[in-house]
Amino acid sequence: MTILEVNNLSKIYGNKQKYEALKNINFSVEKGEFVAIMGPSGSGKTTLLNVISSIDTISGGSVIIDGKEINKLNDKKLADFRKTQLGFIFQDYSVLPTLTVKENIMLPLSVQKNKKYVMEQNYKEVTDALGINDLSHKYPSEISGGQQQRTAAARAFVHKPSIIFADEPTGALDSKSAQDLLKRLEDMNNEFNTTIIMVTHDPSAASFAERVIMLKDGNIHSEIHQNNKSKHDFYQEIIKLQSTLGGVTHDI
Ligand SMILES: Nc1ncnc2c1ncn2[C@@H]1O[C@H](COP(=O)(O)OP(=O)(O)OP(=O)(O)O)[C@@H](O)[C@H]1O
Ligand SMILES: [Mg+2]
Repeated sequence: MTILEVNNLSKIYGNKQKYEALKNINFSVEKGEFVAIMGPSGSGKTTLLNVISSIDTISGGSVIIDGKEINKLNDKKLADFRKTQLGFIFQDYSVLPTLTVKENIMLPLSVQKNKKYVMEQNYKEVTDALGINDLSHKYPSEISGGQQQRTAAARAFVHKPSIIFADEPTGALDSKSAQDLLKRLEDMNNEFNTTIIMVTHDPSAASFAERVIMLKDGNIHSEIHQNNKSKHDFYQEIIKLQSTLGGVTHDI
């Protein structure tokens, strides 16, 4: 089943000074897929994630999630749709400092007025899967960066969305915490069959995905699939593809 369909998508920034950041993008994603979006700095990765996740508006074409053309929804419908169907993980954790780990994770559920036992059950499932169920009553300042990012991931998963959008989720983590988070995202992708679309410039992070969509200058340059390759072999293939692209692949 197709969960996301992107047709002839374009994004133009600016009024007087126009800049075409995305040009005629076409791709689709199946339910339960784990997809990485890569490409040199400035190639349009964040722009693409923002427009397909309805954080930003599109300039042309269409984005269809779970059969709904999201650019045609009115503001209220779109807000409801985002709350129930989408989850987000950003680079900078985005956990709220004045709330405990549990309160942070429960945030999307309280907005939806779910039944209390369903909320508690979902909470237990995601915190078990992410290994943070003993941190419930701690505040973000009392836990590590990796634990904060796992809290952010738990919040993205807790309402059982159709798609999780992640922009450089491991960008602020050391490599061990990054690998740990990715392994857990991979496990949750398998366990809950949640679709994950992740922007990353890190080939090692991308090797956790089943497919890599490579952007260049606002276009899809190529796509590669993990199929049955080992992570290591897929990683090598990603590096090789990157080296043919030129441009700055790492923003340090
Ligand atoms: N709000 C904006 N107004 C005008 N141009 C923008 C805006 N945001 C991004 N751009 C331009 O669009 C292009 C794509 O930007 P985007 O942020 O999507 O790149 P990226 O692939 O995420 O890069 P990075 O790896 O550095 O994060 C860049 O040339 C950028 O300068
Ligand atoms: Mg970016």
